[in-house]
Amino acid sequence: MKRENFSSRFGALMAMAGSAVGLGNLWRFPYMVGTNGGAAFICLYVLFVFLLCLPILCAEMIAGRRSQTNAFRTFDRLAPGTPWKWGGVLMVLTPMIVVSYYSVIGGWSVEYFMKSMMFDFTGNVHTRETLGGMFGDYISSVWRPLAEHTVFLGITAFVVVGGVKNGIEKFGKVMMPLLFLIVVAIAVRSVTLPGAGEGLAYLFRPDFSMIDGPVCAAALGQAFFSLSVGFGIMMTYSSYISRKENIAVSSMYTAIADFVFAIIASCAIMPAVFSFGLSPQAGPGLVFETLPFIFSQMPMGGLIAILFFLALLVAALTSSVSIFEVGVAYLVEERHLSRKVSAIIVYAVTWIVGIICSLSFGPLSGFHILGNTVFDFLDRLSADVLMTTGALLIVLFVGWKMKREDVEDEFTNGGSLPLNKGLFRPLYFVVRYLAPVAVLIILVSGVVS
Ligand code: PHE
Repeated sequence: MKRENFSSRFGALMAMAGSAVGLGNLWRFPYMVGTNGGAAFICLYVLFVFLLCLPILCAEMIAGRRSQTNAFRTFDRLAPGTPWKWGGVLMVLTPMIVVSYYSVIGGWSVEYFMKSMMFDFTGNVHTRETLGGMFGDYISSVWRPLAEHTVFLGITAFVVVGGVKNGIEKFGKVMMPLLFLIVVAIAVRSVTLPGAGEGLAYLFRPDFSMIDGPVCAAALGQAFFSLSVGFGIMMTYSSYISRKENIAVSSMYTAIADFVFAIIASCAIMPAVFSFGLSPQAGPGLVFETLPFIFSQMPMGGLIAILFFLALLVAALTSSVSIFEVGVAYLVEERHLSRKVSAIIVYAVTWIVGIICSLSFGPLSGFHILGNTVFDFLDRLSADVLMTTGALLIVLFVGWKMKREDVEDEFTNGGSLPLNKGLFRPLYFVVRYLAPVAVLIILVSGVVS
């Protein structure tokens, strides 16, 4: 059976950027910036994205495109008959776990988008407390979050069933430019509010005394999650990328897109937060409690609220599509099922796990695994342990198991591009030495915590 591919360079880039840019940029990054000391955190994040995660992304893409198969089979295809094969299990398992809880938060963005469409956040009727209460009541309730988790996952599955070219690629090509325009428009509104300068200073004037171990760890975790590396996702997507595309360039664009979105999202949020004299340290509630309050207070806030929650929803969808695709690609290629049946199976499994995650904010909040609710447990398990183990396997595989000639061959598209040694050497060095050590440190500290 001939494998489907992305049909154009732009389409492939939009799909990859769509995977990277998600709730991690619009929801998680701004609140992490707020709770970890502003500009200094951003500096660390940039450093980690470009010096560490970008080479790992490159390695993941090299393995993925060379293997021309799904994430489960990648290692086995490149090193047949070795125990590396078992690494493939992780590459499929991690995304299945992630998409389960990601779609719960995706469901929250459906709810807030609908609320904004009903102009719930207009006209000065709210206080911070009523909005905090509204959010708390919503996530701890049973039916609405479940219904919206179901819908969110349904849209994700629908796009994936459409196929690589006509589903995923088309969706990304339309949604990513739209997303960009919306976020820029909101940022412009935010930075022109009176008193916005203080928020900008918070974002761009670093106070390096804020940096300590936990802040470093937070920035590193954020960089990994945000760039979607170590999950088998970029591996899967890059197996759909034409042999003519330059891997170094594609990965660079993806990292830049991810970084740019994180910064613009912060510019859309922080100046407004400061302008209204609110605290940037609201944590996960920043987007669902603090922002709606701001929308309810500011001129044209009703419209901005609609745009913001639409952006959040779109960003979440393009990412969840990429995570969902890993499981589907596995079932299609390894179990020889149709795309539709595969999507139904992935849907069913992740829907059920997602239900438990969603209920862990309400009726199941007393049920703990190793001291965490189910949602937090799966979040931490995937971010602190599975993703880092995945990243470690990838760099060890590409750095030590694959032959250097093969890595070079893939990097230069079979020799049709000149080997840029000034780029390749440091990259290969990071993949072989720096990345394994760094990732191992994070992994150990993640397991310990
Ligand atoms: N990178 C995405 C984000 O920033 C999330 C994601 C994580 C997507 C893991 C795929 C895999 O939200």
